[in-house]
Amino acid sequence: MSTHSPDIKLLFEPRTVAVIGASHDPNKIGHKVVQNIVANGYTGKVYPVNPKGGEILGLPVAPTIRDIPEEIDAALIVVPAKAVFETVQQCAAHRVKFVLIISSGFSEVGNLEEERKIVSYARAHGMRVLGPNIFGLYSITPSLNATFGPRDIPKGNVAIVTQSGALGVAMIGKAAAERMGLSAIISVGNKADIDEADLLEYLVPHPATRVILMYIEGVKNGERLVRALKRASKEKPIVVIKAGRSKRGAIAAASHTGSLAGAAEVFDAIMRQCGVLCAESIQEAFNWSKFLATSVLPTGEETLIITNGGGIGVIATDACEKYSVTLYDDLQILERIFAPVTPEFGSTKNPIDLTGQATADHYDRALEAARHSESIHSVLALSCETALFDATSFAPMIERNFRAFQQAKKPVVFSALGGEKVEQLTQRLRHQGVPIFADVTEAVSCLGALYQHYRYRCKPEPPIESISFDMRSLMRIFEGARQQGRPFLLAQEAQQLLRLAGIPAPKSAIARTLDEAVRYAQEIGYPVVLKVVSRDILHKSDVGGVALDLDNAQEVSDAYGAILHNCRTHRPEALIDGIEVSQQVPPGVQIIIGARRDPSFGPILMVGLGGIYVEVMKDVSFRALPISRQDALDMLKELKSYPVLLGVRGEEKRDIETIVDVMVRVGALLQVCKNIADIEINPLIIYEHGQGGIAVDARVLLVQGGQEP
Ligand code: COA
Repeated sequence: MSTHSPDIKLLFEPRTVAVIGASHDPNKIGHKVVQNIVANGYTGKVYPVNPKGGEILGLPVAPTIRDIPEEIDAALIVVPAKAVFETVQQCAAHRVKFVLIISSGFSEVGNLEEERKIVSYARAHGMRVLGPNIFGLYSITPSLNATFGPRDIPKGNVAIVTQSGALGVAMIGKAAAERMGLSAIISVGNKADIDEADLLEYLVPHPATRVILMYIEGVKNGERLVRALKRASKEKPIVVIKAGRSKRGAIAAASHTGSLAGAAEVFDAIMRQCGVLCAESIQEAFNWSKFLATSVLPTGEETLIITNGGGIGVIATDACEKYSVTLYDDLQILERIFAPVTPEFGSTKNPIDLTGQATADHYDRALEAARHSESIHSVLALSCETALFDATSFAPMIERNFRAFQQAKKPVVFSALGGEKVEQLTQRLRHQGVPIFADVTEAVSCLGALYQHYRYRCKPEPPIESISFDMRSLMRIFEGARQQGRPFLLAQEAQQLLRLAGIPAPKSAIARTLDEAVRYAQEIGYPVVLKVVSRDILHKSDVGGVALDLDNAQEVSDAYGAILHNCRTHRPEALIDGIEVSQQVPPGVQIIIGARRDPSFGPILMVGLGGIYVEVMKDVSFRALPISRQDALDMLKELKSYPVLLGVRGEEKRDIETIVDVMVRVGALLQVCKNIADIEINPLIIYEHGQGGIAVDARVLLVQGGQEP
C-alpha cells in the first residue's frame, strides 16, 4: 500500500491510457472515448479494456487491466456505477496513477457513500481520482482527446476547467465556432478528489496555456483554492464563470452537483481578492479569454480612444468608467501628438474624434501616433459606418494596425458598428484573431479585464503580520465555557477575550457589594453604566437591570439599589451574580466587524458600518483570511459608506487605523483559535483620527465539541 501521490503532470501528459468499459458498440460512450483518442493522434499508447476481448478500431482489447503488459498512467472508467469500485480496485492492483471516472450515479444523485469509498480506496493506494461524473479530459501536449465530446477540438492556448459536463461539451463547440483555441479542457464533475487547485498546479506553469477559464458551481476546499488562485493570477489571467448566483440558481446548482454554492457576495469578493476575473456571462468569459490569450500586457494605465463618431466615443467613455479603464487626459500632449493627424473639425481631446470624414488613412496615422507615444499605454479604436466607409480599405487597416501594436507590445482593441458589410468584416477579422467587436461595450470590457489582471500582477503583496496572543489565558476562557457546556461566551468572557487580543474594550468590573460598585466607578472614571449580571436574565433593560449616565457616587449608590430591587421584583427566581460597573462609552461612528468559518471558503472576515448601512443597505465587504493591513484598508475603501469615515459635513476624519487594527486582530484571533466558530464585534465605536475606538459589544460562538485552539 502506498500513499504517495502521483505527479499531476501525468494526468495531463500520460504516457499510457487505458479505457475500461471500451465498447464495440459505436453508439456507446466507451466506444466514443477510444474513437476520440485515436482520431486526435494521441502520442502515447492507448489500451481498450473489455471482458469480451477482440479489437476496437484496430486496437487489441485487453479482457482486464491485468492483461495490459505495462504500467498505466491514466485509466478512464466507463462502466456502470455499480462496477466502478471493483474496477478501481483492479486499477490499484495494476499501479495505475490516475483514474478518470466518467460514470455517473454517485454523490450527484445522493450516493455519497460509494463515492467516498472509491476515493479513500484510491488515495490509500497512491491513486488520484478525477470525477466521477465527468466527460473526460483533453490535453494538447500529448494530443489527447479522452472525452466523449466533439472529435475536433480547436488547438490554442485557453484551458477550460468545468464542473458541468454538458456545459463543458457545449463550450468546446462554442470555442470552435468562435475560433478560440484550447490547450486543455478538464471536466471535474463531483470533485470527489481532484479539484481546481490541483489542476492549477499543472496549468499555471504549462507553457501552452495562456488563460485559464473556469466554470465553478460549488467550492469545497475553499482555503486551498484561495491560495492556489492568488498564486495563479500573478502568472496568468484566470476567468471564472460562477453559477448559482441568484437564490434560485443556487438551489439548482446544489441539486445538480450535490455541493452547495457559496453566497454570491462572498464568492465575488474572494475571487476579486484572488485577482480572478469574474465574468457575468458565458459570452463575456469567452470574449475575455480569447482577448487575454492573444493580447500583450500594458506597461501603464493610460488609454486612448480613437473614433470617427462622437456618440460612440461617449458610450466608450462611460464604459471605461464602468470597467475601470483610465483615459489619458493631458490635453497639451494630446494636442501636440494628434493635431497633425486629426481633420479640421475633429477633436484632439480623448476620445480623439477623426470625424465622419475619416478614412482608413486617417486611422492609420492616428494609430501610428498613439503607438509611438510613450504616454499612451493602450488604445481603443472605434468606427461607425459612414458614407465614406470602405470595407476594402478598413479591413486591411485594422489587421495591419493590430499586428503593428502586437509588435510594439501595446494592447489595442477595435470596435466597428454598422450594417451587413461591417458585420462581415468584423466576423472575418475575429476569426483571424483580431480583437474586434460590433458592440463597443464588449471591447471596453475586454480591456477592463486586461487591466484588472495587470493591476493584480503589479500589486505588491503586503506582508501578513503574525500577532501573538496569550494562548494560556485564552484557553482558560474557552475551558470555562466548555465545562458549563456553553457553545458561546458570556459578555464578560467575550470582553476579556477582546482585551487579551489587544482590542480596546470598555473598562469594567463586577461588583458584589455596594461599596465595591462605588470603588470601581471611581477607578473607571465617571460617567459609568451599571448592569445586572445574571445568566437567568437575558434582556436586562426589560427588567430595569441597566442604569446609564451615572455621574457620581450618590447616583451609583441609588442605581445599585434600584437595579437589585427591580430584578427581585420582576424576576424573583433569578440568581444574581453581581452588578457590572463599566465605563460609559461616548458616541461615535459604529462599525461591525465579523469573522466566521464559511462552509466553502473557511475563515473569512467581514466589515461594515453599523446601523442602516449594514441593516438596510447591506453595505459590507468580505475577504478570506489571512489579511494584511493593506487588505483591511482596501475592504473599508470598498464600502459605499467609506466617505463617512473620511468625515462628512465638516466632521473630522475617523480613526481608520484603529478599525484596521481591530480587523487584523479579529482575523488573527479566528485563525489562531480553532474553537471560535464566529466572532462579531457590534458595535466598535470609532472616534476622530488619533482618538481610537472601543469595542462595546462582542458575540463569540464556539465550535461545538470544543477543539483545542
Ligand atoms: N470491466 C470492463 N468492461 C466492462 C466492465 C468491467 N468491469 N463492466 C462492463 N464492461 C463493459 C460492458 O460489457 C460494455 O461493453 P460492451 O458494449 O462491449 O458490452 C461497456 O463496458 C459499457 O457497459 P454498459 O453496461 O453497456 O454501460 P453503458 O455503456 O450503457 O453505460 C456509462 C456506461 C458509464 C456510460 C453509464 O453508466 C453512465 O454513467 N453514463 C453517464 C455518463 C455521463 O453522463 N457522465 C457525466 C458526463 S458530464
